[in-house]
Amino acid sequence: MLEVSISKDQAASAASALSTVDKITNWLGTAPEKVDSALSSSERDRVLEDVSDINRAAAAGDVDALYAQQYLLDRIYQLYTKIPQGVNAEGSVLVYEIVRLLETATAEAQDRLIDPELLDEAPTEPRKYLTWLKKIAREHRVYKHPYYHEFIRNTATESDLRNYVMQESVVDGRFDDLLALMQVGTAGDAKMEIASNFWDEMGNGDHAQVHTTLFNKIFEVFEISEDELERSLTATALLNGNLAVMLCRYRTLYTEAVGFLGMTEWMAPDRFVQVVHAWERLGLPEVGITYHRLHITIDSQHAQGWFHNVVLPAAESAYMRRAIARGILWRLNSSAAYLDERMPSAAA
Ligand SMILES: [Fe+2]
Ligand SMILES: [Fe+2]
Repeated sequence: MLEVSISKDQAASAASALSTVDKITNWLGTAPEKVDSALSSSERDRVLEDVSDINRAAAAGDVDALYAQQYLLDRIYQLYTKIPQGVNAEGSVLVYEIVRLLETATAEAQDRLIDPELLDEAPTEPRKYLTWLKKIAREHRVYKHPYYHEFIRNTATESDLRNYVMQESVVDGRFDDLLALMQVGTAGDAKMEIASNFWDEMGNGDHAQVHTTLFNKIFEVFEISEDELERSLTATALLNGNLAVMLCRYRTLYTEAVGFLGMTEWMAPDRFVQVVHAWERLGLPEVGITYHRLHITIDSQHAQGWFHNVVLPAAESAYMRRAIARGILWRLNSSAAYLDERMPSAAA
């Protein structure tokens, strides 16, 4: 059952969003043809209107609606990213209509955060363009964000770190699948770079070194169950994971995925230096920090390879340059929103 924090003045809309989300998530364990034949056309329109109501409220700044929107999108994305244990609604036309409403609203919210003039300023020469992208990232408030450089590094407790790793699972916990999804249809240097990055994710063939296995060691250290993980994810953590899945699963958004995942790799080493520092400061078990230690080095190599072999060749085209920058800005802005939310002053 979905849980949201309900403020008094938003109680009615939160309750309505909750009941819409509950109704739809209950269908996700039903065969697609059953879902599609169960409703009359007016009932169907009503459900789509209810989803649009959630989207409108989220766009207006309603935090409960944002949570409902991203929670529902995450639950539907599990149909496309997890091997099911039984019947599910993957393939349902109605679920597809719902997911498109959620995706369109989510994408529009990210695009509203981008200054269109900024994209017009992008240099056309690929190397200058790459320098420009890095400059945008360095000048963004997410770069050297105090959440990592002050809070995690100097004051986070064991319980804070425990919560931190849960929220990080939406991207780090499935980076291999994101790469696998985004590589379909690529060729040449880009495909080879994604393949080599993916093979690193697979521990270069050593089961014990598979990155998701290493990441999951932290969950063992902190005794975090699947159930607790699912209940604990915040709206902006869900948003970050959903944006990654959205960009990687659509061929039309491949180039945005190049920007989004490239920026994720590029920002990781400096962030993980702070996490390792906190881990050592707290004297936590060494087995839990292998993933972060490894990525301080490997993600700087991944980012370099990615920029050289995936970004530069794509940056020959104006269409691609715009899309890569769009993906990068989605990553910078959504990561900033997530880190702002995680700052202890914001949570208090
Ligand atoms: Fe990795
Ligand atoms: Fe990586």
